Amino acid sequence: MKSLSNKRILLGITGGIAAYKSAELARLFSKAGADVRVVMTPAAVEFITPLTLQALTGNKVHTQLLDADAEAGMGHIELARWPDLIIVAPASADFLARAASGEANDLLSTLILATSAPVAVAPAMNQAMWGNAATQDNLTVLRARDMLIFGPDSGPQACGDTGLGRMLEPQQIIELAAGLFEDALLSGLRICITAGPTREALDPVRYISNHSSGKMGFALAAEAAAAGAIVTLISGPVALQTPERVQRVDVVSARDMLEASLVATQNCDIFIGVAAVADYRPAAVETQKIKKSSDAFSIALVPNPDIISSIAALDNRPFTVGFAAETHNIETFALSKLQRKKLDMLFANDATATFGSDDISAIALWPQGRSVLGPGNKQLIARQMLALIHTRYTLPRQGDFR
Ligand code: C5P
Repeated sequence: MKSLSNKRILLGITGGIAAYKSAELARLFSKAGADVRVVMTPAAVEFITPLTLQALTGNKVHTQLLDADAEAGMGHIELARWPDLIIVAPASADFLARAASGEANDLLSTLILATSAPVAVAPAMNQAMWGNAATQDNLTVLRARDMLIFGPDSGPQACGDTGLGRMLEPQQIIELAAGLFEDALLSGLRICITAGPTREALDPVRYISNHSSGKMGFALAAEAAAAGAIVTLISGPVALQTPERVQRVDVVSARDMLEASLVATQNCDIFIGVAAVADYRPAAVETQKIKKSSDAFSIALVPNPDIISSIAALDNRPFTVGFAAETHNIETFALSKLQRKKLDMLFANDATATFGSDDISAIALWPQGRSVLGPGNKQLIARQMLALIHTRYTLPRQGDFR
């Protein structure tokens, strides 16, 4: 089910007794790593509560076409553009009829008209309704428009009849949906990335920091998500937009970043430390603004925790990848860092050329080898870095630190 990782699934539920199985379907999609949004018709709400689906997916359930609140958040056209797949399960005879005639008289039928995503339906209805020529004609029309029809199954029905018209089981639906997507390189892998600088407060208005823009970490997060990974991006203060499909955690200081990293690492296969973490912080943070005087002023500093070393020291550590921005003796310093911090891999680069720039070149080092990447823009190099990380991650690891 790796191919569903990070996919956007819009689950439409129409009115039928099989709607109780949609809760399990939503749960299975979420468990497979998909982001699930649910749209229910008014009739569906009679069978199962939106609250159940909201709890299972973590997203607000959409029920109305003309809902001012919903339109202010994700409006119906935005919602139609959002999914990688729309799956309507159960799809009632009435819904199939409305879809076939191109009606847009509720939110779900409107989305079917407005979307360019593939649409699949899992019909569920009484066997006589399924067999009726009107339903079969509607299905012919829908198939001709490339709608995918999953099922139905045959067997005993809620009304006491036996025959064709039972909705497929949620597990069967999920397998058919997964089959529509190919596995991407990082499908199903959980990747945590730190990015940007940290800020170490001196008093309420001043801090110590560095010039890191966060661009490299954000590029890695965007590319990893595009390659199917489930990405948590722990970011210091930067002026960058969160990449699509990435879960972002904002932090300020090194100690905040360590705390967030330890939480994220509990659920992570690969940890990539790209952040330019401040090595020191002021020994004391004044509660009031420090006043100017003509005397010389010195600040006592204490070392910050080393985040990536703390992660690498965990018993059940993820595959741990560091970055080293150096101004001279790049490879020598980087190699000693790889060993000292017990990393599985490290990318070294020239700090003077990299900070704030859109381009980068890097030397990749790991316990048994090296490779050179770039120069190229951070997006392209990020893709190459992830391919290398993936190769090292999947290979048997003799002599590694893990
Ligand atoms: O020691 P240096 O700062 O050069 O090491 C760089 C690597 O270590 C990067 O991967 C950086 O994110 C990580 N690091 C860290 N915590 C620190 C300092 C650096 O995770 N306090």
